[in-house]
Amino acid sequence: MDNRQQRFEVMRQRCEAAGQRHLLRFWPGLSDDERDALLADLEQIDFVPIQRLVETCVRNIPPHADFQCIEPAPFVPRPDPDHPSDETHAARDEGWSLLRAGRVAALTVAGGQGTRLGFAGPKGCLPVSPIRRKPLFQLFAEQILATERRVGHPIRWYIMTSPGNDDATRAFFREHRAFGLDPGNVVFFPQGVMPAFAPDGRILLDQPHRVALSPDGHGGSLLAMARRGVLAEMAAHGIEYISYFQVDNPLVRCLDPLFVGLHAQRGSEMSSKMVPKSDDLERVGNFVLADGHVRVIEYSDLPDSLAHARNPDGSRRFDAANLAIHVLSRGFVERLTRDAEAFGLPWHRAEKKVPCIDLGTGQRIEPAEPNAIKLEAFIFDALPLTQTPSLILETDRTEEFSPVKNATGVDSLETAQRDMVRRAARWLDVAGARVPRRADGEPAHPIEISPLAALSADDLRARPPPTVNGPTYVE
Ligand code: UTP
Repeated sequence: MDNRQQRFEVMRQRCEAAGQRHLLRFWPGLSDDERDALLADLEQIDFVPIQRLVETCVRNIPPHADFQCIEPAPFVPRPDPDHPSDETHAARDEGWSLLRAGRVAALTVAGGQGTRLGFAGPKGCLPVSPIRRKPLFQLFAEQILATERRVGHPIRWYIMTSPGNDDATRAFFREHRAFGLDPGNVVFFPQGVMPAFAPDGRILLDQPHRVALSPDGHGGSLLAMARRGVLAEMAAHGIEYISYFQVDNPLVRCLDPLFVGLHAQRGSEMSSKMVPKSDDLERVGNFVLADGHVRVIEYSDLPDSLAHARNPDGSRRFDAANLAIHVLSRGFVERLTRDAEAFGLPWHRAEKKVPCIDLGTGQRIEPAEPNAIKLEAFIFDALPLTQTPSLILETDRTEEFSPVKNATGVDSLETAQRDMVRRAARWLDVAGARVPRRADGEPAHPIEISPLAALSADDLRARPPPTVNGPTYVE
């Protein structure tokens, strides 16, 4: 038996054992290259839990967790930028010294498909800054570079890709010479994949020789870090804290000394940033304390009575929105994934339109209605697995959060650019510049501040304020 035939035999047995024999239906008519492609797809699938998953999450809808007792999650209020407390000072100092000692790494999850945005290429390559059109990846690279210069120590940046965008992401960094970072400190690793299922539990084929696979969710980052040797290489570099953020938020503070410092001082294993919700039903995850543990309950799962609940003073009772900005302790991720085969976050089920092959005719179907079940794991489901209380830090939405999710409307490139200009104008106000405003209060001109010039408003205080009488780029 040649090597291909041996691999086929292994896969045939696995598919049969998992009730997925149809995946090899077109094998006899495939060319050698197509057979190799199909085997490579099948080898990425973890077949062991598939049958159980089909029963629990595909053919049936998993029941919502029923918590006996849901309370608002406690959080550290947003520090007053003009009068920081002693605790804030001490935590920020601690964060800077951890950065100086090389104990902190950045982690960007960039494996998503960005279907809502519809940009051709990895989302991190999207030109986003209002004047220079810097891509998201460049904005993060420059923040990391600016932090390296300040602490005098290299900082490792881990970027989780997916099998579908890994090559393009690496090529983009090569083409741009890692935006000034030492390429040896930028580490790419692909996440795992999950097949799409027909409602009857059969895995869908994208083509007769390709399985319909998609990335397994940002929660897949934990297992991917373990399986791809990232945790081991973090340990070898003395990295203890992982500053986690999503690729689609150009306002994110990639390495926030205050957040890292508080996380370390409190002995938290997984910390999170939150902002007050903009309305009761805002489509965000809510931080709650459920049966004594911090968790995130998605807006769609938060009962209306809780979403509208009020405190005695009239304020919103469940008011903490999840920004998907976390610090994770490396030791925590190691503990969770020590037995990688046994570890798993819960799967979230979504009904989607997935083009696929009709198993009878071999013709491709472009569905008009959702025809498939996709399963994804979410990072916030690691929160209840911590053994120490989780820190939640309140922050200012206008300073740190404006994601690019959609092509138009809310959370689009347009709103993110607007929010970048607004923030830049506020920072220049703090620095004493005269920023002209239009009648509606918006800055009269586009303004962009390079992360290499300032990581916060405070960084601008030390320099003479620029004159703003047209589009302004602060370098
Ligand atoms: P989203 O949930 O917004 O998904 O991801 P998405 O894939 O980017 O966009 P849509 O839903 O298809 O329009 C939030 C963050 O998590 C990352 C994304 O890259 C983004 O930074 N992510 C998501 C992954 O890294 N892997 C995944 O499997 C899913």
